[in-house]
Amino acid sequence: MFETLSPVPPDAILGLMSAFREDPRTEKVDLGVGVYKDEAGHTPVLESVKRAEGHLLEQEDTKAYIGPAGDEGYNQRVGRLILSDDLSGVASDRVSVVQTPGGCGALRSAAELIVRCGDETTIWVPDPTWANHVPLLGDAGLTIREYPYFDATTSSVRFDEMAACLGQLGRSDIVLLHGCCHNPCGADLDREQWDAVVALAGRTGFTPFVDLAYQGFGDGLDEDAYGVRQLAANVPELIVASSCSKNFGLYRERTGAVMLLSSSAKQAAATKSQLLSIIRGIYSMPPSHGAAIVDHILRDAELTALWTRELAAMRDRINSLRSLLVSRFQEKGAGSRFDFIARQRGMFSFLGIDERQVSLLRERHGIYMVGSSRFNVAGVNSANIDHFCDSVLSVL
Ligand code: LMR
Repeated sequence: MFETLSPVPPDAILGLMSAFREDPRTEKVDLGVGVYKDEAGHTPVLESVKRAEGHLLEQEDTKAYIGPAGDEGYNQRVGRLILSDDLSGVASDRVSVVQTPGGCGALRSAAELIVRCGDETTIWVPDPTWANHVPLLGDAGLTIREYPYFDATTSSVRFDEMAACLGQLGRSDIVLLHGCCHNPCGADLDREQWDAVVALAGRTGFTPFVDLAYQGFGDGLDEDAYGVRQLAANVPELIVASSCSKNFGLYRERTGAVMLLSSSAKQAAATKSQLLSIIRGIYSMPPSHGAAIVDHILRDAELTALWTRELAAMRDRINSLRSLLVSRFQEKGAGSRFDFIARQRGMFSFLGIDERQVSLLRERHGIYMVGSSRFNVAGVNSANIDHFCDSVLSVL
């Protein structure tokens, strides 16, 4: 049977992890996969997470199943993290939150739910979007189309074209929006643009689907949720895929959630039951550990304060690296070419070089990034910034 299968090339992002590991050069720099790194190039376990784990180790008294919806305490608290304590004014019985294995589990189970809604549904994703959106959504059976988003010549959002495209959509369309810290381009919608998207959704009837994988990594927990909260307050139906990989540093613990906003309490109950039956049929139930950590942190005021300080430190480091890169490139004679880096947010930006130049950076200088020239800003530090900037300038 297996002879019908031919090899698939390594994933464009995850493949970089093993290529980097195997590179013997000491000056190599990993700007590939999106994990936060500190000044020493390490991805730390947060202190708030360590403390919560200590508590769990002491207090956990069973490993019995947690059920397809996961941990209800976690679900409630994550719902409030996304929509704020007053749920953005939305009646709580219209909102369902279900724990999932990471943001990927959230995206896939929500895609399966959309397929169950019947009708030929098209999901519109930004051009460009995170590469893994395509298999996560497409393999569930959704038709994927792109709306204009990033303008490589100005390194900003081509909002007029985006709005013109979304303005043509209708009730059988879903629109995937990056809640903040756009992956891969780092260019986010500003508040006025979010307000315009909310108005477009109201006028055309498309259903917004927000991928919120980096809440707290851009400008702050509340600031980064502006768009999703405006949508929740103004549209009848909304889907959100959220992740604790980045903001809690829980990458390998696979901790995420799907939030569904339905038009009524009755509809919410039916929709949630469908989602739970999908989950039962794919992975049955999510792993417990990561969500138990998040729940423990968010139910304890002192740990929550510690976590928000740790999150702010990660965010501030990335944002100061963005400014530092701009000034370092300027000092080295690049003019204003890289000024856009400081205007963008989150872990990623495109350097704006071609695939050949990306390969040269890797072959000649041991600098690893995705072929699209997406680089992980957090991978830069004081030990490698000059090597990075000089190498980039040498391949231009
Ligand atoms: C990334 O975009 O690098 C991260 O979200 C990791 C991944 O799974 O691709």
